[in-house]
Parts: sequence; C-alpha cells; structure tokens
Amino acid sequence: MDTREQLIQLEKAAELGGGEARLRRQHQAGKLTARERMELLFDAGTFEELDKLVVHRCRDFGMEDQVIPGDGVVTGFGHVEGRVVYAFAQDFTVFGGSLSETNAAKIVKIMDLAVRQGAPVVGLNDSGGARIQEGVMSLAGYADIFLRNTLASGVVPQISAIMGPCAGGAVYSPAITDFIVMVEGTSYMFVTGPDVVRTVTHEEVSKDDLGGAMTHNAKSGVAHFAVADDRECLLLIRELLGFLPGNNVDDPPRRETSDPFDREDEALDHLVPESPNQPYDILDLIHGVVDDGHFLEVQHYYARNLVIGFARLGGRSVGIVANQPAHLAGVLDIDASVKGARFVRFCDAFNIPIVTFEDVPGFLPGTQQEFAGIIRHGAKLLFAFAEATVPKVTVITRKAYGGAYCVMSSKHIRTDINFAWPTAEIAVMGPEGAVNILYKRELERAEDPAALRAAKVAEFRAKLANPFVAASRGFLDEVIMPRTTRRRLITALASLESKRDRNPPKKHGNIPL
Ligand code: HXC
Repeated sequence: MDTREQLIQLEKAAELGGGEARLRRQHQAGKLTARERMELLFDAGTFEELDKLVVHRCRDFGMEDQVIPGDGVVTGFGHVEGRVVYAFAQDFTVFGGSLSETNAAKIVKIMDLAVRQGAPVVGLNDSGGARIQEGVMSLAGYADIFLRNTLASGVVPQISAIMGPCAGGAVYSPAITDFIVMVEGTSYMFVTGPDVVRTVTHEEVSKDDLGGAMTHNAKSGVAHFAVADDRECLLLIRELLGFLPGNNVDDPPRRETSDPFDREDEALDHLVPESPNQPYDILDLIHGVVDDGHFLEVQHYYARNLVIGFARLGGRSVGIVANQPAHLAGVLDIDASVKGARFVRFCDAFNIPIVTFEDVPGFLPGTQQEFAGIIRHGAKLLFAFAEATVPKVTVITRKAYGGAYCVMSSKHIRTDINFAWPTAEIAVMGPEGAVNILYKRELERAEDPAALRAAKVAEFRAKLANPFVAASRGFLDEVIMPRTTRRRLITALASLESKRDRNPPKKHGNIPL
C-alpha cells in the first residue's frame, strides 16, 4: 500500500471512531457524534481537523491492539459567523471519550493555538474521564489542560458544553471556563457519582438529581444554560459567541440593526407600579430597550432575583445586570451576588460595556445569609463593579437602598453615566424601616402610632425617597423619562466608545472569594 492509500485508510479509521455499533449507540442515546457536533458548531464547510492521526502510546491492558487514529477526541478550528474559533469534541465511541496522554496533548495544542491567535475555545465534553489504563499519564493530561484553562482565562473566551458524562476531576476544566451549557437528559457533572455518594453519605440520589442539567442550572449555579438537545446546544454556543470578541484586546463584533436608536417605548412610563411594594418584571424593561427586543439571558434558572445576560444597543454588545423585582423583590442575596460578580468580571475582561438596571431593596437579612457569608459574597459584586474599567451605565428605576445603592454600579465606584427614572427612591433604607428607627420612642408614646407612622413615612418619602437629592449632588447625571431609556443608553454608550481607564499596576487584586 502506498502512502496515499495509507492516508485514506487512516482517515477512514479516524472517522469511524469506535466503530459502527458504538456510533449507533451514541445516536440511540439521543446524542450526536463528535464530528457531527463540530459540523453544527461551525459555519458550513469551515471545520479543519488537526491531529487526526494521533494515537495513544499505551502498551498495557491490551491497549496495543486497540489503536484508533485521533484517539478519542476531535480537535481543530473553523469559523463561527466568519470568525475563527478553536474547538475540541470528545468522541465517546473511542474508549468512552476518556482522556489519555495523547488525547490531552491534542486539546492542549488547540488551546495554545487559540491563545496565540486570540480566538475563543469551545470544548464539547462527552467523556468517561481519565483513561483508566493510562493512570498518572491521563491525570497529568488533565492538569495540563487545567493550567491552559487558567492561563487563557480573561485572554480568550472559553465555553464548555457538557454533552454526556463529565465526572471526577474532569469537571474542573469546564468549571474554570467562562460558560457551561448542559444538555438536558444526556449530560451530567459531579465530583463523585451516586454509588460513591451512597457509600460515603448514605444518600440515595439519581445521576440526574445529583448532577443533571437542571441541578446545575437551578441549584448549584455551576452551569449557565440548559438546552433540550445537542443541536440546540451548538446553536446556543454560536449565538453566545456572536456577542463576544475573539480575545481581551479586541472589541466585541458590531451588528447592524434596523431598530431605530431613538425608538421610544411608551409602556415603560407605566412599568413601575404605584405601590412601592408591588413587583414588576424587569425583563419587560430589558426587552423594551435592547435592539429588536433580543436578550440572551445567562443563568436564567439560578438566583432569579438578579437577571444577567447579553444584548445589543445600537449594534454594540452589552452585558446587562438587573435586579428582578418580580423575584424576592429583587433583593441581593449570596447567590445573586456571586452570579452578578462573575458576569461583571467576564464583561470587564472582554471589553463588553455593562448596563445596570437597579431596583433593589438591599441585601437579604437573616441568620441563614449571615452565617453563609453574605458579607464576603456581597463584597464580590461590589469588588467586581468597582474594578471594572469598561464603559458602565446605570439606570435606577425604583429602589436603591443602603449598601446596595453603592454596590449596583453607583457613580462613586467609577460608573460613567448614571440615570434614574422619576420613580427612583435613593435612601439608606426604605421609608418604613427608617421611620421605625428614627421615631422609635415617639411611636411607643403616641396615642395613634399608625397615624404617626403614616405621616412620618409620607414625610420621609417626600424628602428623601426620590432621585432629586442624588441628582442635585451629581450622583445621578440625569433623571430621564422611562420611555427615552433606549436613546439615552445608546447615546451614552456611543460617547464612551473610546473610554480608556485602568486600575493601578498590581499582580492581581484579592477579590474576597
Ligand atoms: C477507559 C473507559 C472509561 C475510562 C469508559 N470507558 N470510561 N475507558 N477509561 N475512564 C469505556 C468503557 O470501557 C466502554 O468501552 C466505553 O468507554 C463506554 O463505556 P460504557 O461504560 O459502556 O458506557 P456507559 O454505560 O454509557 O457508561 C459511561 C460511564 C462509565 C458512566 C462514563 O463508562 C463509567 O463510569 N466510566 C468510568 C468513569 C470514571 O470513574 N472515570 C474516572 C473518573 S476520575 P467499550 O470498549 O465497552 O465500548 C477522573 C479523574 C480526572 O476522571 C482527574 C482530573 C484531575
């Protein structure tokens, strides 16, 4: 056989992976194969595979007779909407997609290429973990990847899709990356599976309950998106990449829009209810102002009192952080603080302006939150907003009480433009709480405490619970009519396009982790 024929044979063997029976099983499990996934991830016909002929070097446990070109992972690069992206897809049909020395080296190679090139890395995970036959060589391979994940963090965007098993230490590579997408029904992540859990803690738990897509989207906050199947997963990753620059020195891509920059939304004038305790849906505001009403929400199922996600304003990518009065009155708790902080830091690392919509009654009180460390977790959000040097614009729609006023991208922590709606209330605390403290003795002595309380609350509201004191100090740049919010935001962001700001030179800050 000449070398050309040899090449054809080897390529065929690589494409057949673990063989027809295993490919069939993959489809029967509701999963696409590694190469099918790559085809869907990239623009049609642009995927270029690398290291198709790499084989493992294991000579133990009969492995010398089982040599499959590519060794269980498909790696390479291609285009997503015309921009270069690097990716790897673990091939579950080859030794369960398990990670060998050479399989890890392939992943490391494309990660190094991506960082040198300044292009995102997408990992499609579907693997039985460290290849058991290779022992410490496969563990070393994982550690090599973890190091790359860490060094690439903040340099190029890293996105992980969990499209099958992801267990043991293997979960830590996705965990270091910026976003995790999980496929419902076919994917799971855990440090140890249900059998070990039963032995150690005597808990009975299913694989799905322990580490399925909804567990990590709604409970642990490990994952950022849950999708119905492989196809939806890959489309979502393409959409997400569309908001992001290739690297930390590029700007995010601009997208033309036919949505007029000065479109006014009259409904916004009536969005905030008369009663300060009545909820409304902050998504109505977000959808009302962003280009074409299109918002890609991140971590939709987790800490719903804070909404985060990507949208465009006047064609520019923005990261949106918004208190959600429709959930727990929009209060900041530990989960919301951590969720918001990581998102703010992602946007800051990748030159994505941050738009904050604020309606927050404060941090959540109580022993549960205090014992679990709301002080250090809440500080993460404060730290993240304060250190962010990207353009920052805030709109206070209603409550901005207490420490939460300072935290939610206030003027004092270097926010460039601060707007408020006329319905804004900026105060140390809500009127009721303030009156109870300030007039405690008078209320105890009063003949009609309810009447006195009502009068004092009204007085407090009139004097302090409005945007005008803050505006008179310049802590707000403008009090704006809600219907004009879109135009105001787009104009503000355009004015900030050439913003240059930096933090003092340091190795790194010490965010309260
Ligand atoms: C080598 C493996 C493998 C592994 C699976 N296979 N995992 N080969 N090393 N880690 C092989 C199987 O032998 C089988 O080969 C094929 O992949 C498919 O596996 P099945 O068990 O038939 O599939 P399924 O029933 O779907 O179960 C999938 C599975 C299970 C849940 C992933 O295979 C499993 O539990 N594997 C071991 C998982 C594990 O404990 N890994 C180590 C985790 S610790 P054939 O030839 O029959 O097709 C870890 C440490 C990372 O990863 C450290 C980082 C610091």
